[in-house]
Amino acid sequence: MKIIAIANQKGGVGKTTTAINLSTCLAVAGARVLLLDLDPQGNASSGLGHRAAEGQSLYSVLTGDDPLEGKIQTTRFENLSIIPAQMELAGCEVELVRSANHLVRLREVLEPLKRERRFDYLLIDCPPSLGILMTSALAAADGLLIPMQCEYFGLEGLARIVDIHDQIATSGINPSVTLEGILMTMYDGRTSHCRAVVEEVRRAFADLVYPINIPRSIAVAESQSFEKALLEYDPHGKASQAYKQIAEIFLSRQDPTAAPASAPIPADRSVPTAEALPPPAGVPI
Ligand SMILES: Nc1ncnc2c1ncn2[C@@H]1O[C@H](COP(=O)(O)OP(=O)(O)O)[C@@H](O)[C@H]1O
Ligand SMILES: [Mg+2]
Repeated sequence: MKIIAIANQKGGVGKTTTAINLSTCLAVAGARVLLLDLDPQGNASSGLGHRAAEGQSLYSVLTGDDPLEGKIQTTRFENLSIIPAQMELAGCEVELVRSANHLVRLREVLEPLKRERRFDYLLIDCPPSLGILMTSALAAADGLLIPMQCEYFGLEGLARIVDIHDQIATSGINPSVTLEGILMTMYDGRTSHCRAVVEEVRRAFADLVYPINIPRSIAVAESQSFEKALLEYDPHGKASQAYKQIAEIFLSRQDPTAAPASAPIPADRSVPTAEALPPPAGVPI
């Protein structure tokens, strides 16, 4: 089982949307997937129609002795299970700090699942803050998938999350965590600004950036309000099709006989700054 943390300390960049739709697309493609909602707001859970009651999140497993098994729920998708989030998870930020092993607690908790090989992938929807929950996810992850909104402020967020990845890898907390990929979200090809941001990120991160951008689509918000994945709500829509393609690329990247699992990081991986972008073009064309 490979653990993928979907993380970016910036909020509103498409982490949860990616968690919901990548996990469902992977499951429909035949992979056995467990989605772990680690954001106390529980949007990935409610987005799939799994609003959790108190006691159903990972909270009591992380802070006590509750078994992990009792928290895993099946979903409408045959190959997809979920551990939903509930507000109680926020307590981990305070309570876990008190224990000596707080950064690796999540990794320890997930270890039996890793051995069992019951799931192929565990996707973690991380909260948007740089707290214990997100750090724990990175400490437990094999790979980090970074959704980034195609806009100017996204570049700063990207620089920060790449730094955090490097710190986790070099500090010894989790030396083997790789950058799984960068996914450009809410792409609108009609604006030159959007296109310029994507170009700059590709220049710095080359093949680490997924070749398909997730387009901006109203179907995303609509599907979430109906508590459905895009595959259920708007299967032929452009956002749904993009996530389907991302799932296929994701799976092909995991195939050891195909291209390297994690594309080599270019020597110059300095994150582009806003100065690298052309001046705003005014009215989008
Ligand atoms: N491709 C998209 N097109 C349009 N709206 C999107 C898209 N992706 C995400 N959104 C919307 O943007 C907001 C933030 O997305 P979300 O996935 O919750 O981000 P995060 O988990 O990083 O905070 C939500 O209201 C969501 O519906
Ligand atoms: Mg979220």
